[in-house]
Amino acid sequence: MNDGMSEGLDVPFRGIVEQSLAGMYVIQDEVFQYVNVTFAGMLGYTPDEMTGMHLRQAVVPEMQAETVANFHRRISGEMPSIRYTTIGRHRNGEPVHLEVHGSSVLYRGRPAVVGVGVNITEQLKQQHALQASRERLRELAAYINTMREEQRSRIARELHDVVGGMLTSMKLDIQRINRRADDPEMKAIIGDLLHLAQESIDTVRTISEDLRPGALDHLGLSSALQAMLRQFSERTEVASQLQAEGFEAQLSQARATATYRICQEALTNIARHAGATQVILRLECSGGWLNVEIEDNGRGLASLTPTGKSIGLVSMAERAREFGGSLASRPGAAGGTCLILRLPMEEH
Ligand SMILES: Nc1ncnc2c1ncn2[C@@H]1O[C@H](COP(=O)(O)OP(=O)(O)OP(=O)(O)O)[C@@H](O)[C@H]1O
Ligand SMILES: [Mg+2]
Repeated sequence: MNDGMSEGLDVPFRGIVEQSLAGMYVIQDEVFQYVNVTFAGMLGYTPDEMTGMHLRQAVVPEMQAETVANFHRRISGEMPSIRYTTIGRHRNGEPVHLEVHGSSVLYRGRPAVVGVGVNITEQLKQQHALQASRERLRELAAYINTMREEQRSRIARELHDVVGGMLTSMKLDIQRINRRADDPEMKAIIGDLLHLAQESIDTVRTISEDLRPGALDHLGLSSALQAMLRQFSERTEVASQLQAEGFEAQLSQARATATYRICQEALTNIARHAGATQVILRLECSGGWLNVEIEDNGRGLASLTPTGKSIGLVSMAERAREFGGSLASRPGAAGGTCLILRLPMEEH
């Protein structure tokens, strides 16, 4: 390298450049005039081997035109300094992803480009691996949700139809026995049995309804949510209101279920964390999107991405994303939290 670069300065530039962990180069007339050990090493050469090499030789064929053009853009002053990524060609033929930042300078009295290059191959690989693993995680979450819903539906059906049916027959038989018995002591026992049978029938119905809200299948989303809110208010003494005037959406069963579960989790959170006295659930559809807002007047939610082990909000967002939707939050009108779910009505 021309020592003139450091002329008049006490800083030992040559030492800095040669020991730098970043690759450095000087290109003139499309030819490497200087490369440091790091830059040459990235492509599998020694500095001596690379000095005098044509720029084109250092990059993969598909990047040659662009790389040479970028060189001339800097030389001509059109873009005196450019930062971009290119794909170098290693001596063994392997591609090497490089981020380069080059500027035009005068070298031996003529224009040249001096630049810094960093090997980002590993970084890109890790980025891709991370992306792929996020994708897999998403698929896994979607799969688990689907499986869970299917399993819940099946158990709910069996409980309702089979166990519920058996209990009802049992109750009818007990009633028949009751009609024939006249011993008071026997009547008392039969009375207890009847009571127990009725309680069992009710319990099975509640469990089955919890597992798979029948209203969702028979009456639609809005009615199912209305029933959910009513139960929520009974249990928690938090006033609730459904605003769904004119709401009429033809949603797939999977979408309706996802929306229902997200609202369910939101209400669980309100009961557990918000300290609210009122909840409003709004349902609306416009422009092919279903918009749901669940607003409470409690203490407010700090962040949608909590640290720690809680999975409620994460799984709500994941369910929304599964259908191309999103979950967001904003402060509620009366303090508290407003969760906003947006879901495309149909597959995009
Ligand atoms: N409506 C709300 N008002 C105030 N804070 C909330 C509300 N909803 C959630 N939070 C806060 O966000 C945190 C994360 O909620 P998330 O549902 O993810 O987890 P969790 O309810 O703590 O546990 P789980 O994993 O069982 O759901 C809660 O711990 C709570 O602090
Ligand atoms: Mg929760």
